[in-house]
Amino acid sequence: MTTADRRLPTANRVITSLPEMSALARGLRTQARTVALVPTMGALHEGHLSLVRRAQAEADALVVSIFVNPVQFSPSEDYARYPRDLDRDGRLLAPFAPDAIFAPEARAMYPEGFDTHVEPGRAAAALEGAMRPGHFRGVATVVLKLFNLVAPDLAYFGQKDLQQVAVIRRMVEDFNLGTRVVVCPTVREPDGLALSSRNAYLEAEDRRAAPVLYRSLRAAAERFQAGERRAAALGEAVQTMIAGEPRVRLDYVMVASQDSMQPVEQAASGDAILLAARVGPARLIDNLILGAA
Ligand code: PAJ
Repeated sequence: MTTADRRLPTANRVITSLPEMSALARGLRTQARTVALVPTMGALHEGHLSLVRRAQAEADALVVSIFVNPVQFSPSEDYARYPRDLDRDGRLLAPFAPDAIFAPEARAMYPEGFDTHVEPGRAAAALEGAMRPGHFRGVATVVLKLFNLVAPDLAYFGQKDLQQVAVIRRMVEDFNLGTRVVVCPTVREPDGLALSSRNAYLEAEDRRAAPVLYRSLRAAAERFQAGERRAAALGEAVQTMIAGEPRVRLDYVMVASQDSMQPVEQAASGDAILLAARVGPARLIDNLILGAA
């Protein structure tokens, strides 16, 4: 029997009710050996689908959540205009026959009186955590809620959001959640731009300029390969290249330890170089692991 054969006949069912999601997940756990969750905010692209594909291949049951989580956006951010198209997302997911697509309303996830949040520690302090106060508190809170509703054995996240991975791993460990976090490689356009739902904000000229982010990370990674270990010098390689592209403004570049997301002065193999930049109306992030092929 193949993994697909073991799937329940609930394929592509969109669930909005929290109790219904819990009940369905309970059923999946009794009938399936392993349950996978792929948390997303929708506006799905090949990056998300790479997670779904891997989850489908590795687990017996598959739940994909689609929820634009208001508490991870600050008031000045793009919550209102974040792209939403559940019908299209459903069509993209159909070939994977998920056992459920969980797409709750914000007021169901955060009803009147909701008042408890997860406060991530050091992994959320630098980088995105410093630029977007409260962001990882919102991410950790919603991911804990999703884990409680679905109780997945496996949960799939993208390396694209490497600090998010560090925050979630820490939470899983600290709260004994028992879910295995699986990290999937960043999916890129042929010119190197990391796929992101926010790329939809880019006008033609911004889109032309945006691949400099990846090129600059590659330049730093090549300097690392050539023996440069000073984090400041690796950061400079990124800064110099991005300075040559007037449409792109760097928010930060940092070499950090992958687990702790704390800055390092001397880079070692396995550390990450991470950046965030504004390209036209979009704020984009990207990273590479140093010493990786
Ligand atoms: P979202 O930005 O929709 O991303 C969902 C998942 O897809 C994340 O794990 C992200 O890292 C992964 N992903 C996005 N672009 C990718 C790419 N180009 N290659 C590989 N993986 C990619 O991240 C979130 O949503 C939210 O914070 C969430 C975890 C759902 C909590 O609200």
